[in-house]
Amino acid sequence: MQGITSFYVMELLQRAKQLEQLGRDIIHMEIGEPDFPTPPAVLEAGRRFLKTGDVKYTPAAGLPQLRTAIADFYRQRHGIEVAAERIFITPGASGAFLLAFGISLNPGETVIMADPCYPCNENFVRLFDGDTQRVAVAADSSYQLDAGLIAGHWRETTKGVLIASPSNPTGTLISNEALQQAIRAVQDRGGCFYSDEIYHGLVYGAVADSALAFNDESFVINSFSKYFGMTGWRIGWLVVPEAFIPAAEKLAQNIFISAPTHSQHAALASFGAENLTELENRRLEFMRRRDFLYDNLLRLGFKVVCKPQGAFYLYADCSAFSNDSFQFAVDLLETEGVAVTPGKDFGYNHANSHIRFAYTASIDRMSAALTRMERFICR
Ligand SMILES: Cc1ncc(COP(=O)(O)O)c(C=O)c1O
Repeated sequence: MQGITSFYVMELLQRAKQLEQLGRDIIHMEIGEPDFPTPPAVLEAGRRFLKTGDVKYTPAAGLPQLRTAIADFYRQRHGIEVAAERIFITPGASGAFLLAFGISLNPGETVIMADPCYPCNENFVRLFDGDTQRVAVAADSSYQLDAGLIAGHWRETTKGVLIASPSNPTGTLISNEALQQAIRAVQDRGGCFYSDEIYHGLVYGAVADSALAFNDESFVINSFSKYFGMTGWRIGWLVVPEAFIPAAEKLAQNIFISAPTHSQHAALASFGAENLTELENRRLEFMRRRDFLYDNLLRLGFKVVCKPQGAFYLYADCSAFSNDSFQFAVDLLETEGVAVTPGKDFGYNHANSHIRFAYTASIDRMSAALTRMERFICR
């Protein structure tokens, strides 16, 4: 437990809640979840299922019809054939990570991951007595690992590589070509490739291929949380290489028995045509917000070297105003009621000069946040 870090942003969130209780208006740009409610078709499917009262465990790997629906989605959207037997339904991408590392890592093995990256990844590896090799990434590789970095950092203990594209916190993508090369670099070394595709679907002006397009041996982590707008339902999935199916089945039975049953039934409605149209409208709204926030952050003097092409985050260099982004975030919250996430939540690489903005607030609210930030900076 001593090695497990907690989220600094939770401290800020707690303080933001206190301030709200005191009557302050807080603009939340720290939280990594869509502000939209669960899509109506999904809510309705969930309600319909709950009315039956038959809320029992499902098979450990998940509802067969949901596994098939996800396989169909890969075929329709990406033109990829994935056997439904390789798809395991999990409690969020978080459950998928537990399963992926649980079935593939031996104690003492290490996983290469980018710095900055989603902080829980490191802790999932630790849970299985593994360790992480954080590799500093910069704008020249769109804040993503690539084949060269992988080759340069591979050690005897290295088990594999995790790439998250679009990335949290930077929102940047790995190009399809670089992804293919990275997978090859891992394969050539006999390692495991873990692809976190939780922000797939939320991509702007680019096409993000799944790692599954390039090889069948990757572990692909995905979720209904972000693009499908179901964070609180705790439902995601993991695609495993065929040889790992029995291990995934056994471990899923042990660590969660099954993902929430009502969530699985609700998630089935995600793939209906009407719902996909609703999700597309939300994606377009996120894209408008990205453009709005990006232009205005640059106007205020923040640096964003790589315009993000996905997720709902902007990772901005605030060194024009402060070299302590945690203190910057605290002061911004206290004085102006704008909540953002400090860079040190995502690693060590220039963390003190960066903050993450989540554009999970409407353009009107972000506009008010920008006015407040301008006042804060000028002060
Ligand atoms: C990159 C990334 N991976 C995984 C997760 C976990 O998502 P969930 O467990 O809600 O599906 C998150 C959540 O913010 C994330 O940003």
